[in-house]
Amino acid sequence: MKIITCIAPVNIATIKYWGKRDTELILPLNDSISVTLSTDQMHSKTTVAIDPDFKSDRMWLNGKEQSVDNPRFAQCLKEIRRRVQDKHGDIADWKFHICSENNFPTAAGLASSAAGYACLVYALAKVSGISEVRDVSLVARRGSGSACRSVWGGFVRWQAGVRPDGADSLAEQLYPAEHWPPVRVLVLVVSDSKKKIGSTSGMQESVKTSKLLAHRVERVLPDRIANMIEAIGRKDFATFADLTMQDSNQFHAVCLDTYPPIVYMNEVSHAIVDFVHKYNQLANQVKVAYTFDAGPNACLFVLEPDVADVIAHLRHLFPPTEHSAANYVRGIPVVQHVQ
Ligand code: PMV
Repeated sequence: MKIITCIAPVNIATIKYWGKRDTELILPLNDSISVTLSTDQMHSKTTVAIDPDFKSDRMWLNGKEQSVDNPRFAQCLKEIRRRVQDKHGDIADWKFHICSENNFPTAAGLASSAAGYACLVYALAKVSGISEVRDVSLVARRGSGSACRSVWGGFVRWQAGVRPDGADSLAEQLYPAEHWPPVRVLVLVVSDSKKKIGSTSGMQESVKTSKLLAHRVERVLPDRIANMIEAIGRKDFATFADLTMQDSNQFHAVCLDTYPPIVYMNEVSHAIVDFVHKYNQLANQVKVAYTFDAGPNACLFVLEPDVADVIAHLRHLFPPTEHSAANYVRGIPVVQHVQ
């Protein structure tokens, strides 16, 4: 028996991926950019065992056995086996037993699937003797698009690629975390319930019905992506922050432009947006940026020297309450280092 345990981090998109040009291969309409968080607080952990005596593939998520027929999960196993066949044919028929857990809410718009699939595929690859990060990124993409970005640390770009078979649709590291060490991320859990509309169906509804999405992909993103990469390169926080907030807002505008509309942010999310703009206005400088994925939870980017002050303001404005679970920013934000 061979056994391995891996942990993988969450990544937060600063330029969002929303919409596929190929739903089967999970090929995106646009490039996206993300920041990978350190694994010390939010992460996925996966143990994979492989043994010639295992009768079938089996999988447990957060302690509960899951069906291995889930098509995306099955696809990841298939893609790994195809690569194993090429390199270590002797173990290609062995079955996997997989045990995964997230130490944060699953499917609540906190990038749990990104960390989860990145971790799964990395562990499968390692236990099977596959070592190329390129392969891990390509296969993780088949589990959940954004997972292909979690295989790299620091500042990451997922190249949409142009090939119909998706062989060039994978993530690359733009800069390691050390490039810009004082950037911190505050994760504000507004609600830990599962999102109403998953990203898979949500984004395809947008592709079908939102004209704003087409405009975004063709007319807005090419410049925005170039500008974001330059801003990260010269450590220009104000530009990075403005672009991040504009992109989050446009992504949620696309969701509202989808018909019927998709609403991920709630009252508390909007109160957080107001707070960030007021804070920046009073500081006469852009010190905080927000971004929201497919859920109401906020991620704030802040430079290290400002973290304590921002947290103090957040605690004052959004005190934890007894009924905090659904409606209030809960407790103390998680301060994440970029990894
Ligand atoms: O990878 P998915 O299918 O969970 O989609 C992720 C979509 C967003 O989180 C909203 C944006 C992104 O780029 O991560």
